[in-house]
Amino acid sequence: MPVRILSGVQPSGKLHLGNYFGAIKQHIELQERPEHEPYYFIADFHAMTTVQDAERMREYIRGVALDYLALGLDPKRATFFRQSDVPEVTELAWMLSAVTGMGLLERAHSYKDKVAKGIKPSVGLFYYPVLMAADILIYKPKFVPVGQDQVQHIEMTQDMAQYFNNTYKCEVLVRPEPRLDKGAKVPGTDGEKMSKSYGNTIDLQLEGKALKKVVMGVKTDSTPVEDPKDPAKCNVFALYQLVASDAEQAALAERYKAGGLGYGEAKKLLLEKLDAYFASYRAKRNDLEQNLDYVDSVLRDGAERARKVARATLDECKKAAGLL
Ligand code: ADP
Ligand code: TRP
Repeated sequence: MPVRILSGVQPSGKLHLGNYFGAIKQHIELQERPEHEPYYFIADFHAMTTVQDAERMREYIRGVALDYLALGLDPKRATFFRQSDVPEVTELAWMLSAVTGMGLLERAHSYKDKVAKGIKPSVGLFYYPVLMAADILIYKPKFVPVGQDQVQHIEMTQDMAQYFNNTYKCEVLVRPEPRLDKGAKVPGTDGEKMSKSYGNTIDLQLEGKALKKVVMGVKTDSTPVEDPKDPAKCNVFALYQLVASDAEQAALAERYKAGGLGYGEAKKLLLEKLDAYFASYRAKRNDLEQNLDYVDSVLRDGAERARKVARATLDECKKAAGLL
């Protein structure tokens, strides 16, 4: 029995280490299991709630497509597409909105957090969880791999599936389960959660001097060079753990505890590891940039496959609701 998996990433800026270790790395690993049937999409309809400039939108969509492919997404194993190429999701979203109470949406943390950060509270931003529920339920996935911040949205999706099934006395929509990524919280250069909206990111595309500048700027405390240091409390070490082997991590931890290691040197070690870890990704991304027709064809092909599944579910929902 194939196990369908679905996830989406918004094209709302350049991707960073938090996006990779929190979400994308797991998405790519999940495609390797033969029983898995992954569907991954670029959530461009969702990004419209924050990106309101056509040029930037095009650039970010292309960027996410290049990043996924360069990081190892295999279009033969995974169906990879753009959300807006499957307009059926907006129809299902409307049908869900008609059976969903206002109270459910009013409890959404993500909406409140975004408004608190200064994002305009549009109707679309409020309605975001309904669209997200539709673009999950329409593919009937068993698992939705996401970061911790998205769990509430998945729980709301489970509720909306049940409201629909109860209202129309049917079993059409299937309850999805969240699957949590292990790199749950990658720290940014200031030690807070790495996020585009905090300006503390290390972008995947950075290299050379630009990467060096960002890594050298990672915040550390003022323990003198000769004193022993606690690796568990250091942002540099937390980032190093993502890209170094177990033996390398253990060796650096020993040096922290022994004293005599300056943070500048730890940052240089981190810089070398980061640079090497993402070198093949950068090379592949550059190649793909010269081959945008291929990238477009992957997305077109993915949309065609995804749309077939989406149409079938939408028809079942319409029948259940008396529209067919
Ligand atoms: P941002 O906070 O930069 O706007 P998004 O909200 O677009 O990032 O997140 C896209 C995906 O990356 C989500 O699944 C989210 O959980 C994950 N993610 C983002 N930042 C981090 C982080 N610092 N640590 C772990 N995962 C993260
Ligand atoms: N809301 C998700 C985020 O900000 C992106 C997203 C949209 C998504 N639709 C989805 C994730 C469906 C998983 C499944 O990261």
